[in-house]
Amino acid sequence: MFNFDNVIERRHTNSLKWDNFGPIYQLTSIEDILPMWVADMDFAVPQCVTTAITKRLEHPVFGYSNICDNTYLAIINWLATHHHYTVKKDELLFRHGVIPALANVIAALTKEGDAIVISPPVYHPFYFIPTNLNRTLLTCPLVEQNGHYHFDFDAFEQQLIKAKAYILCNPHNPGGMVWDEATLREIVRLCAKHDVLIISDEIHADLVFQPHQHIPIATVAGDEINRVITCMAPTKTFNLASIQSAFMIVHDANKRELIESYATANGQGGINVLAVEATRAAFEEGEEWRLAMLDYISHTMDVVIRELSTIDGVTALKPDGTYLLWIDYRATGLSEKEIMQRLLTVGKLALEPGTKYGVEGEGFLRMNLACPLATAEEAIARFKKALA
Ligand SMILES: Cc1ncc(COP(=O)(O)O)c(C=O)c1O
Repeated sequence: MFNFDNVIERRHTNSLKWDNFGPIYQLTSIEDILPMWVADMDFAVPQCVTTAITKRLEHPVFGYSNICDNTYLAIINWLATHHHYTVKKDELLFRHGVIPALANVIAALTKEGDAIVISPPVYHPFYFIPTNLNRTLLTCPLVEQNGHYHFDFDAFEQQLIKAKAYILCNPHNPGGMVWDEATLREIVRLCAKHDVLIISDEIHADLVFQPHQHIPIATVAGDEINRVITCMAPTKTFNLASIQSAFMIVHDANKRELIESYATANGQGGINVLAVEATRAAFEEGEEWRLAMLDYISHTMDVVIRELSTIDGVTALKPDGTYLLWIDYRATGLSEKEIMQRLLTVGKLALEPGTKYGVEGEGFLRMNLACPLATAEEAIARFKKALA
C-alpha cells in the first residue's frame, strides 16, 4: 500500500540534506556523496497530506487566516489516543518550528544570566538557543554503559540547584532513548524541589518502536503540571519539516500570557494556511502511513545494525525511538577527524559527527535511516569501504 522502497531523487530540489551540505562538511563537490545527516526523511509524505494541501491550493486567495477548529481537534484527539494526554484548545500555542518554540519559551520565562540545564550528548540547538539568548548553560551528561544511557540524578540535582530551567529531549536525540516513567517522575520531583521549569522537546514522540511507549512528561507531572511546557510537531513524524508546523502545550495561563506577549513583541507568529491543513490531515488520517513507516524503518535498522556489527570496532544498538542510529566506533581507535575524513573521501558518505551533540558524543556517529532500504544498504557498503 505504501512504497517506502521508492528511491526519490531529491538532488536539485533545494534540499538541505541533499543539496546544501558542502560548506557544512567543507566539501567543494557533493554530487557523489550520499547524505544521511540532517533529520528529515527521503520518503514521500502521506497522500492525505498532499491531498489536503492541494485542495487548499484550489482556492486562489491566501489572505490572513486562522487555525481552524478541525486542526485543533485533530491534535487534541491524537494526544488523547496516542499519549493519554488530555489537552484543551486554549493550552495549545502554535509556532512554525520546535526550535522557535524553544527560543520563545526560554526568552519569555527566563532572564539573561539564568542557568539552563541540558543532558548531553543532545540535539545541538539545546546549546545555541540558551547561549544566544545570553543564558548560562549547565550540562549534566548522561551516563553511558554498554551503549545505554541513563541519568546521574545526583549530578543532575547539583545542576538544578543553580538553574531556572531544564530542557528535556524525549525521545532523546541522538541516543534514541524513550525515557521511562520512573525517570520522568524523578525529573519532575527534582525540578519541583528546586523550582525549575521543565521544557520538554517531544518532537520524536510518534517515532517509537514496539514495545517502547512514549510518555509525555506532563502526564506524570501531577500537581506540578504547570511547570511543564511540552513542544511537539507533526513535522518529524510525517516528513513535513519545510511545511513548518509546531505547537507548545502550556497548561499554566500565566506562562501562556508571558510566552504570547513575548512572541507578539518579537514578531513571532503561528503557522501558515498550508501548515494548518497539513497538520490536520496528518493527525486525522496519517496513522496507517505512520505505522507502516515505523515497521519499515525498524526493519532497516535491524539490517544496518547487523551489517555494522561485522565491521571491526563498530557497534550500534537499536534505538527505542527516532530514525537516528547512534553508531559507536570507539573500538576502532580512530579519532573523529580521521573517521569523518575516511567516510567523506573514501566512502563518500556524510554522517553526523558525534561531537556535534557535545564532547560526550566523541567516538559516535549519527546516521539517519529514514530512507529506502536500498539507500541504507548503499550506505553500509560505503561505510565498509571507508573503514577497510
Ligand atoms: C529534538 C529535536 N527538536 C527539534 C527539532 C527541529 O524542530 P523544528 O524543525 O520544528 O524547528 C529536531 C530536528 O531534528 C529535533 O531532533
